[in-house]
Amino acid sequence: MTTDATFKFDPEKIMRMAVDLAKKALYLTEPNPVVGAILVDEHGQVLSTGYHKKAGAPHAEVVTLDQYSEVPSSSILFVTLEPCSHTGKTPPCVDLILKKKVKTVVIGTKDPNPRVSGRGIRRLRSHGVKVVENICQTECWEMNRVFNKHIVERIPFVTVKSAATLDGRIAMPSGESQWITGEKARAYGHRLRSQHQAMAVGRTTLVNDNPQLTDRISQNARQPQRVVFSTLGKVSDDSFFMQQTGSKRFIIAGNGINPKVVRELNQKGVTVLVADTGRPGIQWALKTLYTFDICSVLLEGGSELIGSFVQEKMIDQLYLFLSGKLIGRNAAPSWCGETGLECLSDSPLFTFDHIEKLGEDLLLICHPRKNNYS
Ligand SMILES: NC(=O)c1ccc[n+]([C@@H]2O[C@H](COP(=O)([O-])OP(=O)(O)OC[C@H]3O[C@@H](n4cnc5c(N)ncnc54)[C@H](OP(=O)(O)O)[C@@H]3O)[C@@H](O)[C@H]2O)c1
Repeated sequence: MTTDATFKFDPEKIMRMAVDLAKKALYLTEPNPVVGAILVDEHGQVLSTGYHKKAGAPHAEVVTLDQYSEVPSSSILFVTLEPCSHTGKTPPCVDLILKKKVKTVVIGTKDPNPRVSGRGIRRLRSHGVKVVENICQTECWEMNRVFNKHIVERIPFVTVKSAATLDGRIAMPSGESQWITGEKARAYGHRLRSQHQAMAVGRTTLVNDNPQLTDRISQNARQPQRVVFSTLGKVSDDSFFMQQTGSKRFIIAGNGINPKVVRELNQKGVTVLVADTGRPGIQWALKTLYTFDICSVLLEGGSELIGSFVQEKMIDQLYLFLSGKLIGRNAAPSWCGETGLECLSDSPLFTFDHIEKLGEDLLLICHPRKNNYS
């Protein structure tokens, strides 16, 4: 707990409430971050609250301060992210805070965008507002991992999801893969789909499994846009991918694709992104998808495609569902395919963030350690 003399109450408790508010809009605000705000009196009693509901909607500070022409003089504004000082789809929140005569602002984390980071704080301070920074910084940062990545690197956040046996296999040598894990794990996997703006698979997975690439578990799920990596754009007209026209579809192809195939796919509503190499590079594909406002991608495999993502160090997070089944066949693909690794010391190292039992299966959530991975 902070011992800052500004507070006669526990500021972390209030900031955690603001985090919970922000999370109500998790996955709904892209490309914006989730943000929560709370105005309290000097004793920590809540006066008003707000959160950012979706891109283009009022910011959390605007909702929270809306009812006041001027806030009560000793009130304190808590906000999970540094207030903006630039005009986007809405006017700068810093101006509003000054106009409403807020005297103390408590901030969870700075805006990660290098072009704006710290500016809002400096402007507030230059107008005599007291700013307390970094209250519950980790929680405030973690809930915006997708935003923190894409706003700085201008590339989508990538989550890999794979269901593997105890020996790390995702299918039989024949390609048979249904089902490796049980119902609970599969339902969890479905929900991950609608938590990402797009999901991607390799052409072989499309051929072998004919996946629908939709979340059929969550109510009112926002369905992800669908991406297939296929060098020559070879996808069957009978596949769900071609038949279901709901969410936007992309094919990532190489420069050897026949222009006639591109035209035909375009006529069927599929956007074809053609690399200037024979096989599309992963970084190129992700950067190109970002130009279509895709900020997060769930990669569901298979083995070869995940191997390419590992090789190009393009993974931010891994959800590995492990079943107790054992395949024990060398010809069965492993979840991360061929990485091209030469020695153990070069091996990407993942940190375990969360381990959970789902029915008979295990879920491991991990992220690559940056110093080793990049
Ligand atoms: N258990 C699970 O969670 C799970 C999930 C998904 C899949 N699977 C299983 O995995 C198997 C398929 O895996 P797979 O390794 O054979 O194939 P895959 O990774 O699904 O697809 C690989 C294909 O993607 C295309 N591709 C285009 N650009 C690429 C790039 N830069 N890097 C890699 N691939 C690229 C290539 O096809 P072209 O040369 O035609 O372009 C390549 O042959 C299936 O049997 C499926 O059932 C299991």
